[in-house]
Amino acid sequence: MTIPSFVIGIAGGTGAGKTTVARLITENVGEAVTRIPIDNYYEDLSHLELEERASINYDHPSAFEWDLLRDQLSTLLEGQSIEMPVYDFEIHNRKEDPKTVEPTDVVIVEGILALYDEDINEMLDLRLYVETDADVRILRRIQRDVIERGRDLEGVIDQYLSTVKPMHEQFIEPSKKHADLIIPEGANSVAVNLLEEKVQAEVGSDAMRDWERPSGPSAE
Ligand code: C5P
Repeated sequence: MTIPSFVIGIAGGTGAGKTTVARLITENVGEAVTRIPIDNYYEDLSHLELEERASINYDHPSAFEWDLLRDQLSTLLEGQSIEMPVYDFEIHNRKEDPKTVEPTDVVIVEGILALYDEDINEMLDLRLYVETDADVRILRRIQRDVIERGRDLEGVIDQYLSTVKPMHEQFIEPSKKHADLIIPEGANSVAVNLLEEKVQAEVGSDAMRDWERPSGPSAE
């Protein structure tokens, strides 16, 4: 059984580069990392029609099922596996089948509101906020939503102005005060390299502790 030893939260606005930072800082630890995207914890909206689901404010904290995220994260931190929901942006809802996630040395909780909830913040060992200019973020968002998520440009712009931007200002940007470190310009290489070393050291030191841990009564 693996008890995670280092839990990292990565927050920041849409298109800031959170996923890229998560990937780069854990590149050298191989299988020892589990990523928990908080998008997977959007409330189950199966009771609504697709059209209604499309018009939800997905940038407000109330769009997320925080209880489930808290429960599943603490279960994982106790060394037990979870059945993580998987989100489908095209249908604005969870997929039918969850994904079994096993605990690993490093756990990353990643999403626009990863530093919003007090209980989640307490479970994190390192809180990061990725800060990228709004113009760069909206350009990335347009590219992603139109190309990968099959949305039309006008809809993306409307959503940005009506919910994404105001919620960013009201909830996401202020959550920066909970960060231990703010990473400017998204995945900048100096920050990424320093964090990569830190993550590697955490995994390494834990392995060392396991290896060094004496056994038998004389160890006391
Ligand atoms: O990856 P990123 O951090 O950008 O994902 C969060 C964004 O996903 C939010 O800004 C939200 O507006 C968007 N979203 C969406 N449609 C959904 C669920 C979330 O556009 N059905």
